[in-house]
Amino acid sequence: MSIEDQVLSLRKILRDHNYRYYVLGESSITDTEYDVMLGELEDLEKANPIYFDSESPTQRVGGELSSGFETVEHAVPMLSLANSYSEDDLLGFEQRIQRNLPDVDVDYVTELKFDGIAIALIYEHGRFIRGVTRGNGVEGDDITANLRTIRSIPLKANQCPQLPLSFEVRGEIYMPKSEFEKLNKRQATEEKKMFANPRNAAAGSLKLLDSREAARRPLTFSAYYLRTIETLDAGPAIKNQLDSLQILRDLGFPVSRHAVLCHSMREVLDFCSAWEAGREELPYEIDGVVIKVNDLAQQSALGATAKSPRWAMAFKFKAKQASTTILDIHLQVGRTGSITPVASLEPVFLAGSTISRATLHNEDEIQRKDIRIGDAVFIEKGGDVIPKIVKVIEERRPLNSIPFQMPTMCPVCKTSVSRIEGEVALRCENLACPAQVHGRILHFAARGAMDIDGLGEAIVRQLLDQHLIEDLGDLYKLKEEELAVLDRLGERSAENLVAAIKESGSKSLDRLIFGLGIRHVGAGASVVLADSFQSIDALSAASYEELEPLDGIGPVMAYSILHFFAREQNREVLEKLACAGVKMTQIRTLNTGGVFSGKTVVVTGSLDRFTRDGARDAVMKEGGKVSASVSKKTDFVLVGANPGSKYDKAMKLGVTILDEHTFIKWIEKT
Ligand code: IVH
Repeated sequence: MSIEDQVLSLRKILRDHNYRYYVLGESSITDTEYDVMLGELEDLEKANPIYFDSESPTQRVGGELSSGFETVEHAVPMLSLANSYSEDDLLGFEQRIQRNLPDVDVDYVTELKFDGIAIALIYEHGRFIRGVTRGNGVEGDDITANLRTIRSIPLKANQCPQLPLSFEVRGEIYMPKSEFEKLNKRQATEEKKMFANPRNAAAGSLKLLDSREAARRPLTFSAYYLRTIETLDAGPAIKNQLDSLQILRDLGFPVSRHAVLCHSMREVLDFCSAWEAGREELPYEIDGVVIKVNDLAQQSALGATAKSPRWAMAFKFKAKQASTTILDIHLQVGRTGSITPVASLEPVFLAGSTISRATLHNEDEIQRKDIRIGDAVFIEKGGDVIPKIVKVIEERRPLNSIPFQMPTMCPVCKTSVSRIEGEVALRCENLACPAQVHGRILHFAARGAMDIDGLGEAIVRQLLDQHLIEDLGDLYKLKEEELAVLDRLGERSAENLVAAIKESGSKSLDRLIFGLGIRHVGAGASVVLADSFQSIDALSAASYEELEPLDGIGPVMAYSILHFFAREQNREVLEKLACAGVKMTQIRTLNTGGVFSGKTVVVTGSLDRFTRDGARDAVMKEGGKVSASVSKKTDFVLVGANPGSKYDKAMKLGVTILDEHTFIKWIEKT
């Protein structure tokens, strides 16, 4: 056999094996056999570079190192799905469809809802050329280099006149449960970050800048959507979602075998309950079922709202629960003195991680659920990672159990605690309480505030314990030699930390205001305050009448600001910061020619190319004012992914919505 034939034959065998293993889920050769052949092919390619082929199975190992991902616009926006949680929700979905398509028989396809990351893959003339994350739906990150390392994504699709030539495939990248556990073990041995669940692990892996590292992550793909761009001859006749799934399989993509055609909502409901009960048996995580109108003509007749298609619906499963025992209840004192009870639990495995703590929120919550030390309880993980206690299993309550009493003294500084009227939290009123000082410094150094890199929990604890500082006002006088003796901090890191602290002293005024940790004053309100008063001096002298009417401030924040500046300890801290040369003023540079000059803008949701701060800075640079809340006076609301109530309010008031894409275009114009 000629060298070329050997190379081609090895590639074919390896590709076929990949297809069988990763797409069909069958195993034809052992891992060792595979590795031996891959090694042979690698050697041949190295010795004979004229046979290089970017689509060879040897090219799945990654290699490209990028400094960031390029943003790419989706040809067709990647919408998300409306959610449903009950039989009634699904019947409502059916009724809306019947109203829009009267006297038409509608069939549905039900698919498993993979709990992973949505991506779009572009193929031109059968070749994989680009893969993009969903991003904000309009544009996402180009993560092609990482996706090329995923063996279930074909680098070359199968081609014949019955199949599309150029097309877009969408689907979910996910990490199988067993692989997730192996990865977390490996991360632990290598002393690297562990992941909370397979979904986070998949998301983190796709965003790795080193594709060689991404290649080590056991990711896989499942396709559920096909859009034809170009065909040979007339191309395939795709009439419905079931056809799409079959063509995706024919093209060589992995497609779930669990999709089912349902002729009625009853069948849909049965599918949902069967999988809600059977989800644990799957080797990967699903968080629900996706229901799609099968017929593509009916899909286009139904169309979409701004956020999601009217022809599809996600049915979300209830959060997973587990039972465990409350070993103890600890009290945590936050930076504002609020005392939060936290339960220590008998460790229990739930939805991808071991849980040993759960927040109990406050005294009311404990009383309402009558939660006691020693109780057996059900816990659940909602959409997020922090678990909560659902209910006590009363039949299993120990005989000697007693109701839990919240303390009358702060568990840290032992001063008496108070409960402010109208508030649920107990509060330690001692500003000098070590727990509060610790929390305030961490907040001051946090990303959204003064952003002091390297000033973490352990360092702050040591600084306070060794009396190197009394409060955050002392940070700026710290010296390298003082820091270098701390645990876990060498000379080099001490040098970096001192530099980071120094550099933070010239951050913008709104960050400083936010960093002070005035109760109720968030990042958005801090921008308004900085903009209105231009200095800490002016802010500290402001009256209730000046504060309350400001956009997004209101009575609660106004009182809290007055209260903050009235306290001697706070004034002392500010004095120290001023003496250390921290910037405490802001000069307004009015850009009257900017695209936002004279306009008020509110930012909500998470943006792709900007942090919220960055977006606010951009608005101000363009002469605009940034406000914390939406009102009739708001001119624009810049909306990112997963916007909250500000978006709804903007819609209600008819305020112009800007997406990130348009926002960037506008500011790039000037
Ligand atoms: S269809 C316009 N099908 O769920 C239709 N989505 O909550 C777009 N997902 O963004 C999606 N499995 O990340 C569809 N079989 C499936 C799915 C699925 C998981 C994800 C996808 C989507 C999210 C919506």
